[in-house]
Amino acid sequence: MLGPVILAASRSDRMRRLISAAPVTKQVVDRFIPGEDVDDIVPVVRDLAGNGLELTMDVVGEDITSPAQAAAARDAYLELVDRLKPLELGTRAEMSVKLSMFGQALEDGHELALKNVRPVVEAAAEIGTTVTLDAEDHTTLDSMFAIHEELRKDFPQTGCVIQAYLFRTEADARRLAESGSRVRLVKGAYKEPASVAYQDKHEIDRAYVRILRTLMDGKGYPMIGSHDPRLIAIGQELAHQARRELDEYEFQMLYGIRTDEHLRLAAEGHRMRVYTAYGTDWYGYFMRRLAEKPANLRFFARSMLTK
Ligand code: FDA
Repeated sequence: MLGPVILAASRSDRMRRLISAAPVTKQVVDRFIPGEDVDDIVPVVRDLAGNGLELTMDVVGEDITSPAQAAAARDAYLELVDRLKPLELGTRAEMSVKLSMFGQALEDGHELALKNVRPVVEAAAEIGTTVTLDAEDHTTLDSMFAIHEELRKDFPQTGCVIQAYLFRTEADARRLAESGSRVRLVKGAYKEPASVAYQDKHEIDRAYVRILRTLMDGKGYPMIGSHDPRLIAIGQELAHQARRELDEYEFQMLYGIRTDEHLRLAAEGHRMRVYTAYGTDWYGYFMRRLAEKPANLRFFARSMLTK
């Protein structure tokens, strides 16, 4: 019940100001977002890679309000790519981007987001890696898929995310599987109406399995984005049934969540990619993590009261 309330708060400016200013917030935020700038994050990348993990890097931010902020987001990613270059990790460290941060919701936002994201994809390709387009709320997805298709003409490895809770996703998955794309499948983290998305957890899980089967049976590269032990086991079984080798799909989890499981899967020989977010505009990302697990909110509230 708490999840939808927290997701609604994630879009509120008043809550943003209140929570961002709370004295203990940073301590709790650090669990999920291990750094404010690129200097903080490079050692984290080194550590994770040293433990046999792969990474997808997110400079946090969304809902920007000016083209200058969109250009700043692009530049932050370009700086990140620059700093990753000497580490020579290739595809072991890729980028995840939210098109809203690149200007998608502004005037002529579709063109602006494409214009800003392209140099990041080019820079990533120059250091031997790639970019995945995150999925945001359902109103943004036609534009995201069109940008994905456009980028794939020159950079076929560009990936995208699909969300099992949306009714549209089974059809999107068939199209992407047929076109041989890299696709991360997640349950979905936004507050969506019943007209477009399943609301029941079990229905979402069942859709996840159907969609994952489509991806595994297709020509693309499935990326299983989930911490759910049942779905991880089913993912392994579906990969086996589709006769995929260990390097023909991967698991992905968020930094700070089920860390032991990251290491266990990597030790078993799986590709395990950790979604690692950093930056100062962490509010939306952090609130979605609270909404996914009410126990996080209790921990947050308790640390505020005991301060
Ligand atoms: P579920 O929520 O059922 O969690 C399973 C178990 O994992 C829980 O019981 C708990 O133990 C643990 N867990 C999950 N979330 C936790 C949390 N926040 N804190 C502590 N423990 C937690 N969404 C989206 O809409 N667009 C996107 O682009 C992405 N991108 C993305 C990338 C990657 C790599 C991942 C793993 C997830 C996303 N998501 C996302 C988020 C996704 O939609 C979903 O909200 C979360 O992954 C939680 O769903 P699970 O599949 O983990 O299952």
